[in-house]
Amino acid sequence: MTCTILVGGQWGDEGKGKCITYFCTKDKPEIIARAGVGPNAGHSVECNGEKYGLRLTPSGFFNTDSRLLIGAGVLVNPDVFKHELEYLNKYNVDGRTFIDANCAIITEKHTQADKASSYLSEKIGTTGSGCGPANADRINRTIDYAKDIEGLEEYITDVPSEVNKALDEGKDVFIEGSQGFGLSLYYGTYPFVTSKDTCASTAAADVGVGPTRIDEVVVIFKAYTTRVGEGPFPTEITPEEAEKMGIEEYGVVTGRKRRVGLFDKEFAKRSCMINGATQVALTCIDRLYPECYQANKYEDLSQEAREYIEDIEESIGVPITIISTGPDLADTIDLRDEKLN
Ligand code: GTP
Ligand code: IMP
Ligand code: MG
Repeated sequence: MTCTILVGGQWGDEGKGKCITYFCTKDKPEIIARAGVGPNAGHSVECNGEKYGLRLTPSGFFNTDSRLLIGAGVLVNPDVFKHELEYLNKYNVDGRTFIDANCAIITEKHTQADKASSYLSEKIGTTGSGCGPANADRINRTIDYAKDIEGLEEYITDVPSEVNKALDEGKDVFIEGSQGFGLSLYYGTYPFVTSKDTCASTAAADVGVGPTRIDEVVVIFKAYTTRVGEGPFPTEITPEEAEKMGIEEYGVVTGRKRRVGLFDKEFAKRSCMINGATQVALTCIDRLYPECYQANKYEDLSQEAREYIEDIEESIGVPITIISTGPDLADTIDLRDEKLN
């Protein structure tokens, strides 16, 4: 039985979608439970040449044997939820995707408030998905819960009971976070953050699992850093420099150009500490070292790339167990057997 949490270590967009897909396809957990804020996320998932952009459905959906659950801590927009059930029809997600009765519901009012507020949309640079105003209503105890919404009845379940029962029966559970450490309402770059804590402890609470049941916390970092929206970014480089290095990027949900910077070791160390990282996944190494694209073995990485990775590992003091060398599931170096045993 292993209960694993994966969370973003930077400002989101670290490649969680890709790594979650890898873990869930390889390890085949009984349950893949989505934690995190809500449909402000944009996860990219690629397998066998197919590419999907998701906002709410757990990214591990490629594993068609897993139950896909959305925890009570996560905000649900019923339109996004239903759209994704159709969008992922080929993977039979309708029938195995369920939301907790206590998920709070985002309505048009929340998305409009998010976009209409110049403080939120311009000063903070929110995604416009209504998450902030919805979490404010939740705290004011005026928001509706999923159990009260017509048309969602067939998708409602008790996520904590399902997850804890699976663990009692010795099965594996994978909990996926969204956003990243720097966007945490508690530990991030306030006020330029999202509307909730984004760390591993909150991800556990989101799906109703106590801290004593968590075995592994995987914190994911990109080999460089990106950030969308406003706020401090100490290692930021200019768009021209980023382009020269071939590491410019655009957002999945908003299409916004991402701000780009160098890897920040001090920030990563703190992120690992507050998340209680037991392992680190490092993505996009091929974007810094194109000769490493699609490498599957550590020995196939260039000497320069290996030195870069080893230097990060030494600075943060947590084993780097997964190295991602391309967007597809197959482009992965998995060192868990040698580093964790
Ligand atoms: P958030 O929930 O928004 O944080 O999403 P995310 O962490 O899933 O990341 P997102 O999909 O927004 O952005 C990551 C981008 O990098 C996507 O386009 C992925 O397909 C891509 N990607 C992930 N891992 C790798 C990698 O190792 N190499 C390359 N070249 N691309 C990668
Ligand atoms: P909100 O979560 O939409 O309120 O946005 C608050 C801040 O978090 C903004 O800077 C957003 O760009 C950022 N943000 C929210 N979700 C994500 C994500 O999934 N990836 C990257 N940035 C995000
Ligand atoms: Mg994203």
